[in-house]
Amino acid sequence: MDGDLTYQGIELDAATALALLEWQTEMGADEPISDNCLDRFELAARPKPPVPQMPAQPSGTPALSVDSPDDSSKLIAEAERLAASADSLAALASVQENFDGLELKKGARNFCFCDGNPTARVLILGEAPGDQEDREGRPFVGRAGQLLDRMFGAIGLARDAVDAEKALYIINVLTWRPPGNRDPSPEEIALSLPFVRRHIELASPDLVVLMGNIPCQTALGRRGILRLRGQWVQAFDRPALPMTHPAYLLRNPAAKRDAWADLLSIAARLEAGSV
Ligand code: URA
Repeated sequence: MDGDLTYQGIELDAATALALLEWQTEMGADEPISDNCLDRFELAARPKPPVPQMPAQPSGTPALSVDSPDDSSKLIAEAERLAASADSLAALASVQENFDGLELKKGARNFCFCDGNPTARVLILGEAPGDQEDREGRPFVGRAGQLLDRMFGAIGLARDAVDAEKALYIINVLTWRPPGNRDPSPEEIALSLPFVRRHIELASPDLVVLMGNIPCQTALGRRGILRLRGQWVQAFDRPALPMTHPAYLLRNPAAKRDAWADLLSIAARLEAGSV
């Protein structure tokens, strides 16, 4: 392929275009934005083209987009049916990866199901994959993940530990990366919840760490992590501790003191044996 790629009026061969794209990604660009301004007021004023009639979906295949609350509840029911049908983590990974109810799937590179040891006593529930997680298909492998490893390493827990007593199991509310790392919508959370619930049921950890606002919203229906953190609650039928997200701690190092108190609280609870 050559000749028809241009950048700011300059013709590019495919190798140069790829190098330019990689450089932009390296610099943190994660959304393609057109050089030309779009007049959205003018677009909104244009008459809408007729909506094409979709052929009927074969039974059992969920629709890809949610046009009404009715569609939304059908998709949630489908997610619940699929999650309940999984009798192992491998089966859950398979049904969740094949579920087409979330538009996010179309834009993501990889399905990000879990990392660590599924027999661990401690399960960390994070928010959603970021760029690095999307590339690797594993949760918490970017900068926030490295801090998370150091935090839990300080109380003797690691995702690569074989011994369940010393291990961590890590999942996210969302398994597909939201574009531009935006927060998941309430609808995306509702569609993910049946899978998260079943995931935790199958892994059966002694306790869950709700890492940040999105897991608190998902599990408790509440946000406000700075008020919620440090107080044990009951979620997914077991004790759960809301904590500030490591990405927040990277931006606000002063909050690490409270995070350390929360880690000690987890260690004490594990040590006491009765969680
Ligand atoms: N933040 C999360 O909550 N999860 C990840 O996997 C990465 C960053």
